[in-house]
Amino acid sequence: MNPDRLIIFDTTLRDGEQSPGASMTKDEKVRIAKALERLRVDVIEAGFPIASNGDFEAVQAVANAVTESTVCGLARALETDIARAGEAIRGANAGRIHTFIATSPVHMERKLRMSPNQVVEQAVWAVKRARAYTQDVEFSAEDAGRSELDFLCRIFEAVIDAGATTVNVPDTVGYNLPSQFGETLRQLLERIPNSDKAVFSVHCHNDLGLAVANSLAAVMNGARQVECTINGLGERAGNASLEEVVMAVRTRQDEFGCDSRLDTTQIVTCSKLVSNITGFPVQPNKAIVGANAFAHESGIHQDGVLKHRETYEIMRAEDVGWTQNRMVLGKHSGRNAFRSRMQELGIDFASESDLNAAFAQFKELADKKHEVFDEDLQALVTEQGIEAENERIRLVSLRAVSETGEIPMADVTLNIDGEERSVSAEGGGPVDAAYRAIEALVETGADLKLYSVNNITSGTDSQGEVTVRLEKGGRLVNGQGADTDIVIASAKAYINGCNKLLEPAVRAHPQVGDV
Ligand code: KIV
Ligand code: ZN
Repeated sequence: MNPDRLIIFDTTLRDGEQSPGASMTKDEKVRIAKALERLRVDVIEAGFPIASNGDFEAVQAVANAVTESTVCGLARALETDIARAGEAIRGANAGRIHTFIATSPVHMERKLRMSPNQVVEQAVWAVKRARAYTQDVEFSAEDAGRSELDFLCRIFEAVIDAGATTVNVPDTVGYNLPSQFGETLRQLLERIPNSDKAVFSVHCHNDLGLAVANSLAAVMNGARQVECTINGLGERAGNASLEEVVMAVRTRQDEFGCDSRLDTTQIVTCSKLVSNITGFPVQPNKAIVGANAFAHESGIHQDGVLKHRETYEIMRAEDVGWTQNRMVLGKHSGRNAFRSRMQELGIDFASESDLNAAFAQFKELADKKHEVFDEDLQALVTEQGIEAENERIRLVSLRAVSETGEIPMADVTLNIDGEERSVSAEGGGPVDAAYRAIEALVETGADLKLYSVNNITSGTDSQGEVTVRLEKGGRLVNGQGADTDIVIASAKAYINGCNKLLEPAVRAHPQVGDV
């Protein structure tokens, strides 16, 4: 392979989904996968097929929907996992199985209760087994960041001999420092006799805020695949953020001997999509994709940028996909204009009836809001997806009253399992009153852990996008809703969360268990 190419392996749909509350439906995964494909990501890790039937079907659906990127399924070094992953990626144009086993002393002794020899034997067996399904097999040494270098050399050499085409060095617990991690990669590449037969990859977690720095140090020392996620989503503090890794390498070509093939103008769209779908907002000062990433507040900076952009900007906002809010459609726009703008945004409708439903919602929105922007259209599709799946609880109507000196109250009518029920409740404010009314009807008993509201575009007629996080019995779910009326957006978000709580939560975690 071309040594100058940096392979971008996106694991938003797998490790990203391991963030508490970030679980995605099959359709949502397919939408994100299509956006990743337009971003020209090389490999999309679509899930962990053995985890549940839902995960299996999602990987299968992504494998069938994507043609330009390799689609990958995760598998522990076990027969059941590998067979399920092999089956899930069968329809892919290019499919990969990613198998892993832990290699650090603490994981081998305490979690696996296996000797190092047994671990090597199991890893070699797993790679050979995976090769029966695809030529493209990746092996990860889980917790490599705390594993002994000699042992890593031994196991990587053995799995490359067994047919692994990519070997991955995960800093599973985010413990490494950049100089140390870079040195680990350098040594591995130098000491493993068959290191030229596989691509060396890294997968860094962000527990110390070093995931991107560690990934870049590894690339400087010869790694040619980086595993990362959109917005840095992921288990605990997250994974290395794709947009930061990709833009650091692209912007500092003077330092890196490689580059990715990504179309970086798709980055902001992907970031917004992932944030909309998972309900994890992007902090305003987040590099590359935060709302303030290219905003200049101080007069001196503004003056400098106006005179000559490079005085204070190292990247161009448009190169990562920031555009001015563009008025795209209005209330007189027709169905064809709507469909074609949606297509330009990469949103395809599975059927005419889906298109009609979305178009009806667009008309409703255009009546309330004069100018409909791309961001509104994206939120509308998320919204429509949410509603399509919210079969058990739906908002029929909401009337909220708030007046100086009076106790706020809300009348809510919900359709629950096909039956309409209404209730009134008082609260500290109209949102509180609406939530009390909904809770009186659905009785989830969940705790509201987070409530946040953002405007989707600028202006007071902008849609408010509300994210809630609900917790029940240790389970966390996020709910979202958007509307020009933020009390209604809030109710939609709460109902979306309640619907998720009603879904069964049978799903295995890849890194918990015997092997
Ligand atoms: O963090 C980790 O070690 C992982 C592996 C499964 C690659 O996610
Ligand atoms: Zn991970």
